[in-house]
Amino acid sequence: NCSLNTTTNHLRHVESMAVLPSGAGKIPRLNAVILGEALASEEDDLVFPSDDFARQALLPSAQKYLEMYKRSVEDPAGFWSDIASQFLWKSKWGDTVCSENFDIRNGNVYVQWFKGGITNICYNCLDRNVDSGNGDKIAFHWEGNERGFHDSLTYTQLLSQVCQVANYLRDIGVKKGDAVVIYLPMLMELPIAMLACARIGAVHSVVFAGFSADSLAQRIMDCKPKVVLTCNAVKRGSKVIHLKDIVDAALSESFEDACLTYENRSAMMRETTKWQDGRDIWWQDVVPTYSTICEVEWVDAEDPLFLLYTSGSTGKPKGVLHTTGGYMVYTATTFKYAFDYKPSDIYWCTADCGWITGHSYVTYGPLLNGATVVIYEGAPNYPDPGRCWDIVDKFKVTIFYTAPTLVRSLMRDGDAYVTRYSRKSLRVLGSVGEPINPSAWRWFFNVVGDSRCPISDTWWQTETGGFMIAPLPGAWPQKPGSATFPFFGVQPVIVDEKGVEIEGECSGYLCVKSSWPGTFRTLYGDHERYETTYFKPFPGYYFSGDGCSRDKDGYYWLTGRVDDVINVSGHRIGTAEVESALVSHPQCAEAAVVGVEHEVKGQGIYAFVTLVDGIPYSEELRRNLITTVRNQIGPFAAPDRIHWAPGLPKTRSGKIMRRILRKIASRQLDELGDTSTLADPGVVDQLIALADC
Ligand code: PRX
Repeated sequence: NCSLNTTTNHLRHVESMAVLPSGAGKIPRLNAVILGEALASEEDDLVFPSDDFARQALLPSAQKYLEMYKRSVEDPAGFWSDIASQFLWKSKWGDTVCSENFDIRNGNVYVQWFKGGITNICYNCLDRNVDSGNGDKIAFHWEGNERGFHDSLTYTQLLSQVCQVANYLRDIGVKKGDAVVIYLPMLMELPIAMLACARIGAVHSVVFAGFSADSLAQRIMDCKPKVVLTCNAVKRGSKVIHLKDIVDAALSESFEDACLTYENRSAMMRETTKWQDGRDIWWQDVVPTYSTICEVEWVDAEDPLFLLYTSGSTGKPKGVLHTTGGYMVYTATTFKYAFDYKPSDIYWCTADCGWITGHSYVTYGPLLNGATVVIYEGAPNYPDPGRCWDIVDKFKVTIFYTAPTLVRSLMRDGDAYVTRYSRKSLRVLGSVGEPINPSAWRWFFNVVGDSRCPISDTWWQTETGGFMIAPLPGAWPQKPGSATFPFFGVQPVIVDEKGVEIEGECSGYLCVKSSWPGTFRTLYGDHERYETTYFKPFPGYYFSGDGCSRDKDGYYWLTGRVDDVINVSGHRIGTAEVESALVSHPQCAEAAVVGVEHEVKGQGIYAFVTLVDGIPYSEELRRNLITTVRNQIGPFAAPDRIHWAPGLPKTRSGKIMRRILRKIASRQLDELGDTSTLADPGVVDQLIALADC
């Protein structure tokens, strides 16, 4: 059973803040929030929710949070089964709500929530809302890349469309447990396809439509889908991207199954689309011929819902596997509380469904709450940097959730693009994907939100399924740049290099003690890698791969990845993936990639490249190397900088010293540290000499 920790450090800490009487320092300010009295932030840089906000908030006080948090860690089974009971279960789970082994020292790691409970997440997203009288409520507002192109679907209409796709999939032989690859842009057909899979118990594997043919092929080969769902092309900004050509290149000759292709007329007509008879089928030709009623496949809470590949520290992406019941309960609950969701809200998350944010917080979390969701097909700065606020005003968006990289890029374009729109519908803002620097936080808060909207800075990962550390707007003051406190049921711990838990104010590696319902269950086809990557580094805990500090008030501050993963514009990229793409170029002998600070993207990709003997450096080769990475992974992984390297700094045992490379990349040349253990310390001077070539 789940370990019951009666008092985590966090709980102790927040309790001490909340129960102490008014006095000096930070405590009276938190008490002031508990009492509903907003105070101006002082030296601690606290930003308080307004009185108006706190009064209407689902969680209006830190005390209320504390009560719920306490129960969630002391009685996780009771806490989560009360919430789970609000969903439709064909039959309830057994006596054991959660069973887990999170401690590798006690044998194989496993996690189960609501095992034996029979449900269907698509039913809970759609039929449950239609049956409860919300069939006419808008589920999706879709906005096309070009102004003036838009569409919407009510819950009833969405259900009908999902059923038609589900019936098609069933008809071509897709069964419970079969994999379906979806390679679609942000059309409504993308979440429709996901929900259709869930309805019949098929396991969807969405591949972000910015991935190259090679990456798509790799994912197709790994999970062997019965069918691939795609579209012919998409327009993003002023560019047309021919997705079907990419799919054609990815599908090997041996792939004889179906490729269902949506004709996206705003980007390309079917007449000009390349076609393989027998394999390719137009979506619009077949899907509408199917019934709008489709019986659901009732599945066990622990049956797989989806696979989503993410980057790790080796070249091979990891297929993160999420199951049905726990994920359903967790995404719905985190969405509701972290955004203070009310049925009258209009919610827009700018993420693509190709990433976990689009799974949990474009599709499942919001629909489980019966929310109205805005989906935008295009680029956020097209035709100009005011587009987001145009969309906000058009649909009267109340909750706007995005990534710091977009905030920083819009901030650079100036306030005028923001202030020319009203934005008065906005009430909650959200941030995800990377640490948000305090200056971007303040701009987002002051300019976009007119100093009125709390910002939910949500820390989580593909692996966690849902928010782990996030502000609950209204419940406590925020600190710009801090994700604040853990969500219900989450017990974060900070450990040192030896894996020893550190208490109080500290910095170290962020781990989590015991499971939460949205925990991923395995890496597809490689449970050993799951255990090695996440549970062996610090036995007893799940290791997130992130560095973190906790301040004197107990607030958590994420400091970025501590492994060989870099975060570029919120996209997670393994340095090894980029290196292996570079060395596949016949003239590249060796490559070492590091992350370097980037004003807009958060981190940029900086590649040190050693060429095959006798090959001269040239601008053309530099461009070819970048193209190689674009073709093998996708344009978002293209290196920002290629640094010619006659040699790489290696230890005598041949290990590349990345610490030195990071310093050279960020031009912190007086902080190179000890270079005496290098096999050839001379390479450092050579690299410095070539830094600006
Ligand atoms: O480094 C953390 C960063 O993004 C990583 C997870 O990436 P991915 O699995 O692609 O999921 C992104 C969307 C959840 C984390 O290990 N990260 C995510 N959110 C934050 C963050 N870093 C700091 N603050 C955040 N709010």
